[in-house]
Amino acid sequence: MSNERRRSPGRRAADATLAPIDVEDAFVALTDGILLSDRRGKILSANPAAFRILGETKLVGRSFEELLLVSGATMVQDEEGHRVRRAWFPRDDRMGVLDMVSIALGDRGTLHTVRDVTAQAELLRLKEDFLLQVAHELRTPIAALSASLDLLLEDALSMPRDELGSMVSTLRRSALRLEHLVENLLDAGSIEAGTFQVRAIPASVRVSLQEALVFVQPLLDSKHQHLESDLHSDSDRVLADPRRTGQVLSNLIANASRYSPEATTIAVTSVTRGGFVHVTVSDAGPGIPQDEQTRLFQRFFRSREVRDQAGGLGLGLTICRAIVQAHGGEISIDSAPGRGTSVHFTLPKARHLTEEAGAQ
Ligand SMILES: Nc1ncnc2c1ncn2[C@@H]1O[C@H](COP(=O)(O)OP(=O)(O)OP(=O)(O)O)[C@@H](O)[C@H]1O
Ligand SMILES: [Mg+2]
Repeated sequence: MSNERRRSPGRRAADATLAPIDVEDAFVALTDGILLSDRRGKILSANPAAFRILGETKLVGRSFEELLLVSGATMVQDEEGHRVRRAWFPRDDRMGVLDMVSIALGDRGTLHTVRDVTAQAELLRLKEDFLLQVAHELRTPIAALSASLDLLLEDALSMPRDELGSMVSTLRRSALRLEHLVENLLDAGSIEAGTFQVRAIPASVRVSLQEALVFVQPLLDSKHQHLESDLHSDSDRVLADPRRTGQVLSNLIANASRYSPEATTIAVTSVTRGGFVHVTVSDAGPGIPQDEQTRLFQRFFRSREVRDQAGGLGLGLTICRAIVQAHGGEISIDSAPGRGTSVHFTLPKARHLTEEAGAQ
């Protein structure tokens, strides 16, 4: 390193013509808090970020260690002259998390940097919760699969036909549930990564519904629910990815089934309006409170009403919205507690035969 560079730490190697940064400006502009305490621990100076993060009106003159006592800091690393601590402090309606590094400067006291890592800590907690939830969701179908397989292994040959039939449907239901879960997880990943794609071709809503039913019919049967479909013949042709359209329908019907009582009816209807096919999936379930409706399409969001009653990862609607929007359509919810839920989505209509031919 040249003497010139060593004297000007603010300069970048690539552009020696840049002026060095004024230390005082940097001190004020930093988003991490910086505090200097004297040898007895009294705070001598602090930058604006330190005031903002620690929320103290009077930092100067107070003891840094006393501040930490209040926040119940834990030691992460304590090497000579270099301490790393993590502290929790009350912030608005929840706890914030701070990472603090204290470096001894000999006679000049100690320099502390304080970083607000609340957002990262929350993300980590969400991820941990999510992993637990995924494990929990996988456990149920896997347990059902192995229980049925054990029974089959023991008694398959002597089992009455109808019993055998119901066991095989349980197996099928569990396998489909696993498939659905893994598919949702993979799709959520590609939506997040921005690589989610659909392949729109002229397709039939009716055919996509039939494909969705392969997955959801066992769910409906297990709750003695009935599906009524009223697809207007004029609204059958859409310019959409048939597999993805089936996925939207199966996610919406699975929700309608999962969150509605036994023996209720679920309706799927479609009509054409203004160049789009409008599809609606309605149920006679508990409905969704108004304040939660805007959050339903957020990843991992699950209503407090259902969270403990039914399993789920909170991904279905996020994926439905990504699919519908990727086709240029819209999705919305019409619901009120006690009045059931209707989810509407639109897909572009495949209008002319020439357009269909062109798209193929
Ligand atoms: N038809 C419905 N009736 C009542 N609540 C619903 C309905 N559909 C969705 N919800 C609420 O919206 C939340 C989010 O639904 P979403 O489909 O995204 O996730 P999920 O069903 O919880 O899990 P999964 O990832 O398995 O679909 C649900 O947890 C539930 O609280
Ligand atoms: Mg769902």
